[in-house]
Amino acid sequence: MANNTLSVTDNRTGKKYELPIEEGDVIRAADLRQIKVGKDDFGLMSYDPAFTNTASCRSRITYIDGDKGILRYRGYPIEELAEKSNYLEVAYLIVKGELPDREHYERWENNIKIHTMVHENIKKFMEGYRYDAHPMGMLLGTVGALSTFYPDANDIHDLESRRLQTRRLIGKMPTLAAFAYRHTKGLPYVYPDNDLSYTGNLLSMLFKMTELKYKPDPVLERALDVLFILHADHEQNCSANAMRAVGSSQPDPYACAAAAVAALYGPLHGGANEAAIRMLMEIGSVSNIPAMIRKVKEGERRLMGFGHRVYKNYDPRAKILKEMAAQVFEVTGRNPLIDIAIELERIALQDEYFISHKLYPNVDFYSGIIYQAMGFPMTMFPVLFAIPRTSGWMAQWAEMVRDSEQKIARPRQIYVGEPIRHYSELASRPKPTQREDAVSEAI
Ligand code: CMC
Repeated sequence: MANNTLSVTDNRTGKKYELPIEEGDVIRAADLRQIKVGKDDFGLMSYDPAFTNTASCRSRITYIDGDKGILRYRGYPIEELAEKSNYLEVAYLIVKGELPDREHYERWENNIKIHTMVHENIKKFMEGYRYDAHPMGMLLGTVGALSTFYPDANDIHDLESRRLQTRRLIGKMPTLAAFAYRHTKGLPYVYPDNDLSYTGNLLSMLFKMTELKYKPDPVLERALDVLFILHADHEQNCSANAMRAVGSSQPDPYACAAAAVAALYGPLHGGANEAAIRMLMEIGSVSNIPAMIRKVKEGERRLMGFGHRVYKNYDPRAKILKEMAAQVFEVTGRNPLIDIAIELERIALQDEYFISHKLYPNVDFYSGIIYQAMGFPMTMFPVLFAIPRTSGWMAQWAEMVRDSEQKIARPRQIYVGEPIRHYSELASRPKPTQREDAVSEAI
């Protein structure tokens, strides 16, 4: 039987090393440190900007096979969960590892619902934001502010405290998101209605006007629930990594979640659905698609909502959303951007550039079209991503806190700056022209 080791010969010294291979195909980067030229040498390290080939943790939460287009939460295929489950049940699965029985589900639902209210001071925070503030910026600030309301959340090594913060944050995210939206509209905040489902209550807090009781459209309520299931976790993505990296210095989880929201804000992550809609609007009509494809192939543009670090096949979430769009349009009317999207996808998937780069639609390609048809402004799209991702963030964070192999996240660097030099007095420094390159590089 083959040895589960990697034989390495350091040609600088002629020395040979046997590095254990774990889990089938993993070597420990720290094992490279023994490979040295001399005894004072630091030892070999691996260089991996953006962690393209580095596992930062062991995780039991989400499994992705990017080549095959497979996504599973705790072993359950995303397609089955999207068809049969609901977001709160999936959140339970992600956080606790198993699907709940009826009694545990009812208790969980109740535990989330009793945390949907936020402290009245949060409204004052919201009022402090400018009338045109981006709701994701408001969400980021108010999630961070929760840290100041719950000093008990510092007790991150206490299981009951972790459970409580998880219920609190999953409960409060829709309320914070809805308050941010209402602020941008200049509308009064709507308090949670716990008679409604998780997504039904969110729709109520967003869209209720003068009616005494808001009645969500069941098709849209279910569509939002499916969107939430699809967005609940996605293993070590940028925001989960932010959650873990910040969490590794052991602040409370609200501080970590604020960092995760910040990471999600960017156009390459949770902001991509907004960017995808803007791109489809810019294309404007099917006849303009070839011109956009040309620009993408010439490296001038990126096709937003296409490509993924992990999926080198069709994102299974995009497949579900493409099919769901038709059901939503039966209620909302057809979003004309869907025609541009479908044709863009058709042309791109036949094009050599996209085939050779393995670029397929990702979840953000169709989610924005659905959100727009449902009446959400584009600035709310990343916020609608952040709400369900909270269960994933909290699960990733708790897994990290409990993992005895984890330490403060602190990567190494390869220093490529100046060697030692000595301070010179202001009057005797070289003129700016001689230093121009170095200075302009620094900003
Ligand atoms: N359009 C055109 N070319 C692309 C695209 C795209 N959307 N994405 C990647 N490429 C090309 C890229 O130019 C590069 O080509 P080459 O090797 O010839 O230089 C190659 O594909 C590899 O790209 P990369 O940037 O090294 O890949 P990455 O793994 O670092 O990036 C990504 C992943 C998602 C940031 C990127 O595909 C992208 O910018 N996509 C558009 C934004 C987007 O839709 N983001 C949502 C991701 S899904 C939701 C989430 O998980 O947050």
